[in-house]
Amino acid sequence: MLSKLKIPRIIGHRGAKGYAPENTLSSFRKAKELGASWVEFDVKETEDGVLVIMHDDDLDRTTNGKGPMAKTPWKEVKELDAGAWFNETFKGEKIPTFEETLLLLKELNLGANIEIKPCINRDERTAVAVANTILNKWPKELPPPLVSSFSMEALKFAKRTHSELIIGALFETLPADWEKIAKEVQAQTINIDQDIITLELISKINNKGYPVLAYTVNDKKRANDLFNLGVHSIFTDYPWKD
Ligand code: G3P
Ligand code: MG
Repeated sequence: MLSKLKIPRIIGHRGAKGYAPENTLSSFRKAKELGASWVEFDVKETEDGVLVIMHDDDLDRTTNGKGPMAKTPWKEVKELDAGAWFNETFKGEKIPTFEETLLLLKELNLGANIEIKPCINRDERTAVAVANTILNKWPKELPPPLVSSFSMEALKFAKRTHSELIIGALFETLPADWEKIAKEVQAQTINIDQDIITLELISKINNKGYPVLAYTVNDKKRANDLFNLGVHSIFTDYPWKD
């Protein structure tokens, strides 16, 4: 299972979140510049169903807008500044659409873990839209993406829409019935918070045939310790060339 997936050990978290405004094209470019071969980013919908790259449900923290993304139409979202909050040098940076992000990935030859992060009660339609976009627009030159979510509902709808998707089940804490859930969503990886990792936990998951991906690991020594425990990949805000 592992060898077919071709997921690298180091994945830039929201691009290179430590160096550039998260989930922006500058952040993806920075990750590439630093030597990352894959980035992770979060996808959700505007009020009118445009797929955009953003982590939070609300615009407030990472843009100069206010209120929920789910209540803001694309014509307003596209005017927002998503860079100045991080650093004045990034002023003018925009919230990227999913489609323009795919074009940049192709240009940079950068693989991706696409995290479906639906706004409240938008799991199905966001997942279907993401899966259809991958089906129709994923650059053929790139390795197939890993599609993950904390929403198992979203993962089921994504897989139903595009049966070849490689699915990663995301958990903050590993539920007792994790294996049943993983089978239900047809997951091929288990993605978990690094804080909960023990050798016992990793072995349990690996022994069932699932590679483990751990977020968010910003320390190289910690990354190496995790690899030695059997972790397959880490998400880091400060990506480096492996
Ligand atoms: O996919 C790994 C990680 O991004 C999950 O947490 O909150 O950063 O999206 P979050
Ligand atoms: Mg994420």
